[in-house]
Amino acid sequence: MEQRLVELQQEALEGIKKATDLKELNDIRVSYLGKKGPITEVLKGMGKLSAEERPKMGALANEVRDVIAQAIEEKQSILEEEAVAKKLASETIDVTLPGRQVKTGNHHPLTRIIEEIEDLFIGMGYTIAEGPEVESDYYNFEALNLPKGHPARDMQDSFYITEELLLRTHTSPMQARTMEKQNGKGPVKIICPGKVYRRDNDDATHSHQFMQIEGLVVDENIQMSDLKGTLDVFAKKMFGEDREIRLRPSFFPFTEPSVEMDISCKICSGKGCNVCKGTGWIEVLGAGMVHPNVLEMAGYDSKKYTGFAFGIGSERIAMLKYGIDDIRHYYTNDVRFLKQFSIHE
Ligand code: DAH
Repeated sequence: MEQRLVELQQEALEGIKKATDLKELNDIRVSYLGKKGPITEVLKGMGKLSAEERPKMGALANEVRDVIAQAIEEKQSILEEEAVAKKLASETIDVTLPGRQVKTGNHHPLTRIIEEIEDLFIGMGYTIAEGPEVESDYYNFEALNLPKGHPARDMQDSFYITEELLLRTHTSPMQARTMEKQNGKGPVKIICPGKVYRRDNDDATHSHQFMQIEGLVVDENIQMSDLKGTLDVFAKKMFGEDREIRLRPSFFPFTEPSVEMDISCKICSGKGCNVCKGTGWIEVLGAGMVHPNVLEMAGYDSKKYTGFAFGIGSERIAMLKYGIDDIRHYYTNDVRFLKQFSIHE
């Protein structure tokens, strides 16, 4: 029995010495020191020994156990240290490696143009109003002097949701909404940027969804000259001090008189070229003096108050300013297009 115990100790110590990882070591622990291990097995035969030999054998078995346990413990701390060292070595950071380039995003060209226009009008004392994209037939048409069945409704093919609800076809409903809140009193001076929707087939100059910026000024004694002065400042700040504007008579049901504003062509300086289709002028926006019916419907006394309004197509302004030839570029979001407007490169 003694012989067997010494053998076991030898075997175990050899195994421990050879163990290369913590799992292997643990397997040794379980197999030698566990309840079903060979030492326990040997001790089971103690019954056959004489009374003198028994305590000697018991002491020897305990000693063997202790020696094995101690050896395992020592090996364990060696293996643990090795594991930590290995991990540290594998996770070493090479601080001399060049860093990876971080790609930064930038504002969409439309966002940029809208913010630029907002800043310009805020500088002239306007505030910014925002309204719903799902609009009632009343605000989108009726309150703007376009009663049901009015032929001019056909100018804006619409996406109806119900009989009375539609996706707004322009930002002009914000004129009526803003004025209504004033209870017929005081001045109004707002711009309203936002998305609008039309049942158009998409092509280089049409998109079923696009952006407008509405402007509205209402007060006593507002005149056509105020409108013209404002649009002149807008055109020069947006496109350069050398630009001229001209107002052409036009028709919108919510303004009377109505105009369309052109700016002189920058490419040919008014001589005529492809961009301005030989006219020397480029159409930019619609505007006019707020129709008395619109003022009255919103609760204003049209004998006391007058106003002007304008509607800017954001895409069109950005196209002219940045030389973009297709409205679809804004919405297909090809990074090769968008990157050209990066302020980081
Ligand atoms: N709402 C018009 C449109 O979408 C644009 C417009 C024209 C707005 C004249 C105005 C305006 O405020 O006075 O075609």
